[in-house]
Amino acid sequence: MTIWFPMAFITFEGIDGSGKSSLLKNFDLHLKNLGFAVEMTREPGGSELGRELRTILLKNSKTPPCAEAELLLYEADRAQHVATLIKPWLEKKTWVLSDRFMDSSLAFQGAGRKIPFEKVRWLNEFATQGLLPTLTVIVDCPIEVSMARRAKRESEASTKPDRFENEVAPFHQAVRDEYLKMAKTHSRFYVLDGTKSQSTMLEDLIQECQRRKIL
Ligand SMILES: Nc1ncnc2c1ncn2[C@@H]1O[C@H](COP(=O)(O)OP(=O)(O)O)[C@@H](O)[C@H]1O
Ligand SMILES: [Mg+2]
Repeated sequence: MTIWFPMAFITFEGIDGSGKSSLLKNFDLHLKNLGFAVEMTREPGGSELGRELRTILLKNSKTPPCAEAELLLYEADRAQHVATLIKPWLEKKTWVLSDRFMDSSLAFQGAGRKIPFEKVRWLNEFATQGLLPTLTVIVDCPIEVSMARRAKRESEASTKPDRFENEVAPFHQAVRDEYLKMAKTHSRFYVLDGTKSQSTMLEDLIQECQRRKIL
């Protein structure tokens, strides 16, 4: 008899300030309380190389990377992340929860920076070696809500907005619209209403995982 135990690769997407990281932490805690092996990671910056790339990608610079260089740096981070961490974790039957993954490049570099989607898709496939998440949670909220939350987070933590957070409202709107569009294209997406309370969002996500028989 084979013993069935749940394991999944779940990615969290959405505009900055939508509540991804908060939900991810709560879900990670929930799974750990159930006794599961879980790795929580993020893009950019999950791997050692990625941490250096994250600094380059997010810092406000007088000479920022051009859109194409930006995309390639994200894909380099992703390739290293998949090859050295995500695949080995999944092989060990560990849950992997990633704060952003391949769909961020479609939303930010595709819809945001206007790089043709087919080019982003090709590079995503190359970097991930074809690995797809079991489930991708899109935490969705209006950009006004995310902006107010980011302002609160920045004042509480005395942090400054990064290069993407400094983008204008139409950029964030294009990113949000793209996420909602892609959610309609594939059954691996689940859109979660990010204006709900954190505890309600956690309950909704657990229910969705149960509905999909992941949990
Ligand atoms: N559901 C929620 N309701 C109200 N505030 C929230 C909610 N989720 C997150 N926040 C707050 O909004 C800010 C941004 O959340 P965070 O999880 O860091 O978003 P992201 O990772 O998507 O940028 C934080 O200060 C967080 O405490
Ligand atoms: Mg975050």
